[in-house]
Amino acid sequence: MMETPLPDLEAILLVGGRGTRLRPLTLDTPKPLLPTAGVPFLSHQLARARAFGVRRIVFATSYRAEMFSEAFGNGEAFGLELEYMTEEEPLGTGGAIRNAAKALTCGPDDPVLVLNGDILSGHDIGDQIATHVARGAALTLHLTEVDDPSRFGCVPTDDDGRVTAFLEKTPNPVTNRINAGCYVFTRSVIDTIPEGQVVSVERETFPGLIEDGALVLGYADASYWLDVGTPAAFVQGSRDLVLGRLVSPALPGPTGDFLALPGAMISPEAKVSGGSVIGARAIVESGAQVGGSVLGDDCIVHSGAVVVDSVVGIGARVDCGAVLRDVVVGDGAVVGPGNELLAGSRVWPGVVLPESAIRFSSDI
Ligand code: GTP
Repeated sequence: MMETPLPDLEAILLVGGRGTRLRPLTLDTPKPLLPTAGVPFLSHQLARARAFGVRRIVFATSYRAEMFSEAFGNGEAFGLELEYMTEEEPLGTGGAIRNAAKALTCGPDDPVLVLNGDILSGHDIGDQIATHVARGAALTLHLTEVDDPSRFGCVPTDDDGRVTAFLEKTPNPVTNRINAGCYVFTRSVIDTIPEGQVVSVERETFPGLIEDGALVLGYADASYWLDVGTPAAFVQGSRDLVLGRLVSPALPGPTGDFLALPGAMISPEAKVSGGSVIGARAIVESGAQVGGSVLGDDCIVHSGAVVVDSVVGIGARVDCGAVLRDVVVGDGAVVGPGNELLAGSRVWPGVVLPESAIRFSSDI
């Protein structure tokens, strides 16, 4: 997996967003800390960055900043040196990078890796950096192809890989290549971002560099890539890691059809599959079906319940015969017997849905 390791590199990790699209999961926990394939999401990114030669990472924090240092401390456990730079008020992606850069130790000509804290990527980070250095670029953007680019920053390039425009979330994309959320900046370029102001790299810094004629490169590849910003993408990321579609040094067990964390109790008469994670001490009773889902610690899925492509929060309960597909159940919530929830439903933490009075013809 680790094709091109480089020595002693510094990185900035953007983790200050509120993760609104992932509510209610992000009401108490920042998106980058949500348990994903058994560990906080960022563990996968940290382990991969480390494997590519990154030694020091500055976290750009804002929303629930203290939770990051509580989770990762000084980084020793990952063989990394971690620093935390917090914005009192969120400064946007560009302002955050500028603020975090105060804690960098590298020189003005050195490359700095910048990672969005909500991306799973299998691309060769070392090769992206090597390309940046070899071409003497100001900025090198990792690009990936998606079917529907309209939700992302659309990034056309010329035959030499030079980025010709940066079109953030445009309704008529000119290419399927999008900004994949992993950048290499030459350090001195970060220092040109205005300090202490709200700045968006996507809307201001990138288009500005292109307009000024700076060498902005695209590093396009077709490796595994996922933005885990929505609940459906979040469960997909977790199951892809468990199934081994993306190799992660941080996976706390072997890859396989499911991952059961310590103390999980799964009835031999239950069916658990599709890269599901069963949280620590969680219980899955006989006749229950759990497919491609993330079950939090201490939750219970009672007999005959069906949980597919869903997230069930810590200590939540899914009662007999309930059916969840593409549903998020917040921590401590209860889905009473027989409820069949529509795809996209979100049950807020602690809410109790009583037994369903509706019976489906197949149950009668
Ligand atoms: P949504 O609210 O669901 O759009 O999620 P988000 O807040 O994480 O926003 P988005 O996905 O656009 O952010 C991309 C990355 O930048 C994520 O890793 C965010 O944590 C991070 N980020 C966004 N805004 C800020 C900010 O103002 N400060 C810092 N430090 N990080 C930010």
